Amino acid sequence: MTEAARPRILIDCDPGHDDAIMLVCAAAYADVVGVVTVGGNVALEHTTRNALAIATLLDWDVPVHAGADRPLLAEQVTAPEVHGESGMGGTTLPEPDREVAGYDGIGFLIESAHAEEGLWLVPTGPLTNVALAMRCDRSFSSRLAGICLMGGGAEGGNITSAAEFNVFADPEAAAIVFGADCPVRMCGLDLTHQVTGDAAYAARLRGIGGPAATLVAEVVEDELANFGRYATNTESPPLHDPVALLAVTHPHLFAGTVTPIEVETGGHLSRGATVVDRRLVTAQGTAPGATLAEVRTEWVHTVDGPAALDLIADACARWA
Ligand code: BDR
Ligand code: CA
Repeated sequence: MTEAARPRILIDCDPGHDDAIMLVCAAAYADVVGVVTVGGNVALEHTTRNALAIATLLDWDVPVHAGADRPLLAEQVTAPEVHGESGMGGTTLPEPDREVAGYDGIGFLIESAHAEEGLWLVPTGPLTNVALAMRCDRSFSSRLAGICLMGGGAEGGNITSAAEFNVFADPEAAAIVFGADCPVRMCGLDLTHQVTGDAAYAARLRGIGGPAATLVAEVVEDELANFGRYATNTESPPLHDPVALLAVTHPHLFAGTVTPIEVETGGHLSRGATVVDRRLVTAQGTAPGATLAEVRTEWVHTVDGPAALDLIADACARWA
């Protein structure tokens, strides 16, 4: 990709092991207008500090704004069993050498969308900030090129059998975001389970060396050490969040289908499930356009996994 082709994006995240890998890819492959943090994998104070520490590690000049510390309505759930108590368990991040740029992450999202039309928004945590931006400003989502999010899945969840963590953590927010006034690309578990990190990949990263590859190797090694404590249908840990980022920077590696996607906010067993309408999907994997003319949601279901892993390694090599 040429530097000129780098898409301009906003990031909303909860670092978080795999959010950290996403941030390395974002610094390498995109023009990032700003990073907003949200309470998710761990509390907001940790996700914000981790984002600042990752920017320090990469010597990356990007503003980090803190957003919402809790979901709209749901009881807060976190995932320290996957990410450690700090959110970056098993890693050796430096002390942040910079301050948070502001504590109004939602205002920053809105201002950024109004300062420049056509930004991509890449959320990789609970969707609280994005939903609040949409509720505070009706025109917010219409200013975006689109929202490409990590969350959901067409075939079940990870935190429950029906729901994926980011959507389950704030289902009401997710329901708002899937109704955005722009294309919404869902990079859910069906997709992210195609990009996994094993011991050989960690060794490859160690061989690259430098701060970014070392960080990503530490994340993969920590997840491998704890793998099995959480449910996936994969043989090694999925690297969820960078997949959503790469779907914006390297879309040729992905395939998806435009089809209705809605979030279940009720339900005893199914709260937080993303219901993907696959009735209209043809054998060729495309939905009949006439029927779906108004639909803005896309189920991104296929990625070239080895190519995605190569891109993550190549991103790391920029700091070697
Ligand atoms: C998602 O949940 C979080 O734990 C990860 O960071 C990722 O965004 C995967 O379900
Ligand atoms: Ca995340």
